[in-house]
Amino acid sequence: MKNKIDQLLNLRQQALTGGGLAQQKKRHQSGRLTARERIDLLVDEGSFEEFDMFKCHRCTHFNMAEKEWLGDGVITGYGTIKGRLLYLFSQDFSVAGGSLSETHAEKICKVMDMALKNGAPVIGLNDSGGARIQEGIESLAGYADIFLRNVQCSGVIPQLSLIFGPCAGGAVYSPALTDFTIMVENNSYMFLTGPKVVKSVTGEEVTAEQLGGSGIHTRHSGVAHLAAASEQLAIAAARDLLSFLPQNNMLPPAIQETDDPAHRGVPALNQLIPVDRNRPYDMKQLIAEIIDNNCFFEIQPDYAPNLIIGFARFNGMAVGIVANQPAHMAGVLDNNASIKGARFVRCCDAFNIPLVTLVDVPGFMPGTVQEYGGIIRNGAKLLYAYAEATVPKITLTTRKAYGGAYCVMSSKHLRGDINYAWPSAEIAVMGAKGAVELIYGKELAGKPEELRQMEHEYNETFSTPYAAARRGYVDDVILPERTRLRICKALTMLADKRDSNPPRKHGNIPL
Ligand code: HXC
Repeated sequence: MKNKIDQLLNLRQQALTGGGLAQQKKRHQSGRLTARERIDLLVDEGSFEEFDMFKCHRCTHFNMAEKEWLGDGVITGYGTIKGRLLYLFSQDFSVAGGSLSETHAEKICKVMDMALKNGAPVIGLNDSGGARIQEGIESLAGYADIFLRNVQCSGVIPQLSLIFGPCAGGAVYSPALTDFTIMVENNSYMFLTGPKVVKSVTGEEVTAEQLGGSGIHTRHSGVAHLAAASEQLAIAAARDLLSFLPQNNMLPPAIQETDDPAHRGVPALNQLIPVDRNRPYDMKQLIAEIIDNNCFFEIQPDYAPNLIIGFARFNGMAVGIVANQPAHMAGVLDNNASIKGARFVRCCDAFNIPLVTLVDVPGFMPGTVQEYGGIIRNGAKLLYAYAEATVPKITLTTRKAYGGAYCVMSSKHLRGDINYAWPSAEIAVMGAKGAVELIYGKELAGKPEELRQMEHEYNETFSTPYAAARRGYVDDVILPERTRLRICKALTMLADKRDSNPPRKHGNIPL
């Protein structure tokens, strides 16, 4: 027996070194952790259980029969984060650049199947040069098998992707299908084809950072949701993010005990809105004041900053916050903000996370850039997402809610459960200046004093919360200082909400 145990221990040791000590050293030299070090940081100490440590590829082309790595470049298994079960895979770049073979894919599919069957999140630690080129069609098939599972898991269990190293080719489509993608600044890349292929196909010269660095994907493409300064911080962010999500779509998110009293008044909020209705203020200040312990987990902070999205808690209950940001482009809704908001609203709805929407929006952005970019289609996405969402929906209008943007931002008409407004709210078809110019522009041309008077009248009549409150579109006009308490109470009242949509295969969201 001793011999057999020694053999097992030797094989295990072999598997633990992946592509060899020299390759792993190279990884450290490039400022990166090894695949196993990442797992150690992600899961609770001692909780990781590994599968398929001895699995090897079956490829014989291009001398591959002579190359064999136990585990075939990916470590798979399950563990816990803060005691909660999760499944994971961690690609090992030291083995053929973390490239995906048929068997590497089989290992990933196995943990995804188990995650789906057992209703627990799956986290992918991605570090891969894409399809293993020596294998050809088998590795492509492996990718498609993973993509299919990503789609089957979508909206059933949370799926998170962490991106380390240069992820190329097929290695980027699986993350794109997951709920959240976190990158590492200056050390992780996502592209369909690397800079060398780009140069040979289009002649374009571009660095990896310019092509698919974290700055590109968190600011411009919207592919990644967060970028962390180090691998350690990226992993810590994943652990935090997971705490807001339930294990699966049949469960609510966990309630976290808090020492922040629900009845805490915030008198400073009575002064938040500037006297001049066109002056900006920072919506993040409002968020910070009303949530538990000023603890806001912002998603996509650098993409379309005119709309803020992220997770927080009220009296321990996890919520998704969607808020216009008057401090950036006056909080206007444009193409990117609409897409950003729509995806987040659908994610919260899929995972039973109530939505708190904070509204101060002058409207949709006008002009050719937005129209050519499809603001009609993209704005409709946000409208669609709010309309179909059946989770508790609480809306607070702090100042402007004009035109189509009023309808879209979780209005009563889209099944908003509780719609509050501050006394400073202006809920109207459009701003007074534009409205008066349209109605009286010809009649009062050259009479600026009369125009100003009409503007004042329009504001008095329509730019208040009371026209909406009289019709019940706003449930109450509340004191700003009591906002936290009112939201906490509304969330408790809505905790057992049940609502549904008509039976159908699926809706046809204007993608
Ligand atoms: C097999 C690969 C590989 C791959 C890297 N390696 N990518 N082996 N298949 N896809 C191997 C290298 O040969 C090398 O082996 C080792 O991994 C490290 O790679 P380097 O190139 O030395 O590392 P680096 O300079 O850091 O560059 C990393 C890289 C580059 C940017 C990822 O390797 C690269 O461009 N790889 C190919 C990327 C790509 O085009 N993938 C698309 C595949 S097609 P040795 O033995 O020398 O150490 C695809 C289609 C799927 O994915 C589509 C599904 C929708």
